[in-house]
Parts: sequence; structure tokens; C-alpha cells
Amino acid sequence: MTIANPPPGDPRTGAGAAGAAARVAGRRQWPLPRDADPKAPLLEVEHLTTHFRLASATVHAVDDVSFRLNDGEALGIAGESGCGKTTTALSLVRLLPSNGRIVGGSVKLFGIDLVHKSENALRRYRGREIAIVFQGAMNALNPVRRVRDQVAEPLEERLDVPRREARRRADELLELVGIPRARGAAYPHELSGGMRQRSMIAMALACDPAVIIGDEPTTALDVMVQAQILELFERLRHTLGLSLILITHDLSVIAETCDRVLVMYAGKVAEEGPVDTIFRTPRHPYTAKLLAAFPNIRADRRTLEVIPGQPPDLRNPPPACRFESRCPMARDLCREVAPPETTMPDGVRVACHLWPASSDGITPAWTAPSRPEVVIGADVGGVAATSEGAGASVGAGGTEPVAG
Ligand SMILES: Nc1ncnc2c1ncn2[C@@H]1O[C@H](COP(=O)(O)OP(=O)(O)OP(=O)(O)O)[C@@H](O)[C@H]1O
Ligand SMILES: [Mg+2]
Repeated sequence: MTIANPPPGDPRTGAGAAGAAARVAGRRQWPLPRDADPKAPLLEVEHLTTHFRLASATVHAVDDVSFRLNDGEALGIAGESGCGKTTTALSLVRLLPSNGRIVGGSVKLFGIDLVHKSENALRRYRGREIAIVFQGAMNALNPVRRVRDQVAEPLEERLDVPRREARRRADELLELVGIPRARGAAYPHELSGGMRQRSMIAMALACDPAVIIGDEPTTALDVMVQAQILELFERLRHTLGLSLILITHDLSVIAETCDRVLVMYAGKVAEEGPVDTIFRTPRHPYTAKLLAAFPNIRADRRTLEVIPGQPPDLRNPPPACRFESRCPMARDLCREVAPPETTMPDGVRVACHLWPASSDGITPAWTAPSRPEVVIGADVGGVAATSEGAGASVGAGGTEPVAG
């Protein structure tokens, strides 16, 4: 992302030939880390597997999760509570609680594997290259320090920017997120919740990170402020070329804000691909159910569907398909074999036996639903769910987009 006035003396200004060579044409003004591969994708997560150890069991919170975030792209991560969204985000920068451990896979930023970096070496990346804004982050502001000083802190501490210069930059950052300079002198309690969350976003932006992760960044705010914060993210994306991972329960937020969506279920990827495609044509029955459970102003649907049952206990997840016990399309195969991920011709990845490797992406492997309310491969151009018996439609022409 572009910073108008890189602070003088900052090691990331890339002064000299080596620094200049490391710059990425176009967006990024700071040099890449020394061991970066300029041709590598911005962020590539492969087979990430994270466990939590408990006294008597292991929680398989994230299991074999892969995805990619390209430069300037926004990726939404969706899924029910407990499906591993936060654990995935925390694994990216190894900010896991003490009983959490990445047991497999890689997280590559500019081609640099962060999983195997020493804790010391990781400081170069955490906050500086990947910053996280949490739900309720605004409550993490220090109540006895002025907001400007708190925004300036990462610049002083991580980038050794002199205090005066860091404060000047903090003012710029506050302005960038919509807080007038004069308010920088305020203490957190003198600002509204929305302003405090904006301050946290300014703090996350301070070191010019390559990726910002918002983990439910607007959940604690009222709807009007939520909309303003999302607009802010949208603006920052376009003006700064920010790459964003947005974790949210709210599918309409993903529909409006993101290019791609990763739908997680019980620690695994259910479906991943372009937002438009997945929201129009959900292929995984879980995605279809999730969409049907969400209000849609275009649909003639008076009741929202509830997904029956509970996600599995991740201390002992089912060995085959994890959604099987709640899936209206489940067959014996789903109870016996874990579905591999298949990439459809339109680039959507889906892990469901309905879509085997040879699939054309239009015709599911079986069309006779085990429960009558589910329509597969429906050419309905609308929603299969009705006000009487809301069902899910999976496949081509399935569900209407949630918003847009
Ligand atoms: N410190 C921990 N020790 C043990 N289990 C944990 C720990 N933290 C999370 N888990 C478990 O890991 C799984 C994934 O949790 P995670 O917080 O990543 O889910 P989430 O998708 O972010 O949920 P939510 O939408 O509620 O924020 C859950 O089963 C959760 O109970
Ligand atoms: Mg979470």
C-alpha cells in the first residue's frame, strides 16, 4: 500500500539500490522483506492444520485448510461459530493461545514460510506485514493514553520512527480513517465506539502491512457504524490497495465487500471461490444452507431456514464428511469417505461427494434428494426455499445472491 510520506530514517524506505530493487512495482512503496520472492503470491496458505491441546483431548480446530490471497484482493471467511475462522487467522501470525499449535502445513507471505520462522524472526511480520483488527478491539485501547500516541506507538516501537515524526504520521492515519486530527489528543473514553474502532484500524495500518485481517471487526457496533466501518475498509482497499481478510458471520458483508469467499465448516474448507459464483450457485449443501439461513431481500421467503443439528465436536470429528449428520443430501459414501477438495471448471473449490473430480460443475453426482425439500441442480433462477418449507438449492442457478 502507498504511503504518501514515508518517515525519514525508516529502514523500510528502501533507500539505495537494494531497497529499490526489492520494491514491488505499482502498489507497495516499502521494500519487501529480504528473503521475499517478488513473484510469489501475496499470501498462500497450504494444508494448514492447527490443534488445541486440552488435558484429556485434542481439538482439531483447523484441518488441512488451504487458500490464497492475491495482492489487493479481499477474501471473506464465513461459517458457523466454532468452525475455526479465528484459529485460522491467528495461525497466520502464530498468535495462538498457549495450548494451540500448528501441526502441519505452511503459511507463505511473499513466498516466505512463517510457520517455521523463529519467534524472534516472526516479529518482522506480525503487525508489520499482517495486522489483525479483532472484534471489540476498541476496548483494547489504553484508557490513560491519548489516541494519537497509541497509534504512533507501533511506528516508534517496530519501525524506530522518531516520536515527533510518528505522531505526525499518527495524525495522518487518523485522518485517513475519518478522525479529525484534533481528536487525536482525546482519550479513548472521549471517543464514540465507532471512532475507537477506527483508531484501532489506524493502528493496524501504521506499519503499512501487506495484509489486514478483520476478525468480526464490526460485530460489536451498531448497524450504522458497522456500515461506516465497512465503507472505510472498502475505501482503504481502493485508495491504499490493501489486501484484506474479513472474517464475519454476516454473509451480506462478504457479498458487498469481498472478491472471494472461503466457507469453513468444522475446521475444514467446505467451498471457496469468487463471491458472485458461490452466492449464486452454492455447490456445497452447507453453503446453500448457510445462504438460506440468511435474509435476502430479493427472495420471496418469509421464514429463514435453520440448519438443524449442531456442528460436530472437534475433539472427535467424524472421520468422513463432517457435515454429513446435518446434510439433507448425505448418502452412505458421505459416512464412509472424507470428500476430497475438487476444483470446478469455474475455479470454485468444493469438498463434497456431490462434485467428484470428473464433475462438469453443473450436474451433481446424484440428483434424487434424500429429503424432498432439497432441490439439486435447480434451474430456478431464484430460491428453492419457500415460505412453507425452506430448503436449500445446490448447483447451477441455485440461490439468489444475498445482496448486491
Ligand atoms: N484455547 C482453546 N483451547 C481449546 N479449544 C479451543 C481454544 N480456542 C478455540 N478452541 C476451539 O477451536 C474451535 C475453533 O474455534 P474458533 O474460535 O477458531 O472458531 P470461530 O469460527 O472463530 O468461532 P466464532 O464465530 O464463534 O468466533 C472451536 O471448537 C473452539 O471451541
Ligand atoms: Mg472467531
